Amino acid sequence: MTPHEIVKPWLNAGVSPVKSEEKFAPSNIALCKYWGKRDKLLNLPINPSLSVSLAHLGTHTCLTPIDHDEDEVWLNGLCLSEDSAFSKRVSLFLDLFRQSKPTHFKVETRNSIPTAAGLASSASGFAALALAVNDSFQLHLDAQQLSVLARLGSGSACRSLFDGFVEWQMGERADGLDSYATPLSETWSGLCIGLVKVDAREKATDSRSGMQRTLETAHLYQSWPIQAAMDIQAIKDAISAHDFEGLGAKAEHNAMSMHATMMASWPPLVYWQPESLMAMQTVWKLRAQGLPVYFTMDAGPNLKLLFERASADDVLAHFPDIEVIHPFGLI
Ligand code: ADP
Ligand code: DP6
Ligand code: CO
Repeated sequence: MTPHEIVKPWLNAGVSPVKSEEKFAPSNIALCKYWGKRDKLLNLPINPSLSVSLAHLGTHTCLTPIDHDEDEVWLNGLCLSEDSAFSKRVSLFLDLFRQSKPTHFKVETRNSIPTAAGLASSASGFAALALAVNDSFQLHLDAQQLSVLARLGSGSACRSLFDGFVEWQMGERADGLDSYATPLSETWSGLCIGLVKVDAREKATDSRSGMQRTLETAHLYQSWPIQAAMDIQAIKDAISAHDFEGLGAKAEHNAMSMHATMMASWPPLVYWQPESLMAMQTVWKLRAQGLPVYFTMDAGPNLKLLFERASADDVLAHFPDIEVIHPFGLI
């Protein structure tokens, strides 16, 4: 099964694409991580995952049809070369919708999170692009189909169609039509996420090749699906019970387990920098002193602190430079 075959039944023969509205999708931080694919073409995961969306932080994207034989991709106001990996990945996604008389686009996209630094730009980027394509080609897809479509661009993007807590069910089908995300009904006002920006530069190994290397070379990876299955259940239970320490502990343990599988890859895959470990040690010290603060970390050197509103002043005293996000607003 190929992405083209998945998208084909959704296309509207005879409808020419028009300029889209500007579409927004939030970035998201996984509390139980997606790491490893059972199908590389369709981005079908080996384990289910659960995230929280980052409210106003994410991607704005607009598509304009142009009379040109290539797409023109603009990121944060700069026109990218057609040969850049970024432009190619966007054009490959747009190819899925081009039929007999192919239309090319000016793609204008803006990330309010750093690009390719482990802050899930591929998630908000492809979710916003899926929404813009749906609008431009007048596909009228429902939320489930949009989630599948975004997943074809980047796995984690299927979760960025929704706000709040979001679960990506891995599905079983070979065509992946049952592998999409849905929002949880629970909210958690007062939950805070603190971005510790250690390094906002583009990482050396993107998530896609990092997870593939882990799968192919790390024996430790065999235990990852078992760990993830246990963690996602415990995280859902903690969310239902509003058990902050349960949530934080499981999310941190899940992140550390994922990084352990990466480090056991060959060549070793270490996204941490010395400042990442220093921030972790500060978190562990604060917890030992009784402050309920935890962290999670994706494929990059930056930490995301998890804490509640009541602890915010104490956390900020030790991490004065963090950007604080309130996924569910303030109490
Ligand atoms: P991240 O941790 O930021 O998600 P990844 O390695 O997963 O890093 O993905 C980075 C890639 O995601 C970029 O190189 C680019 O191909 C894609 N991407 C990032 N932002 C956007 C965007 N706004 N629109 C389309 N694609 C994007
Ligand atoms: C560590 O979704 O970026 O952030 O599907 O190849 O585009 P592709 O990978 P991507 O991987 C995200 C990995 C992660 C964990 C997560 O977001 O669940
Ligand atoms: Co990504």
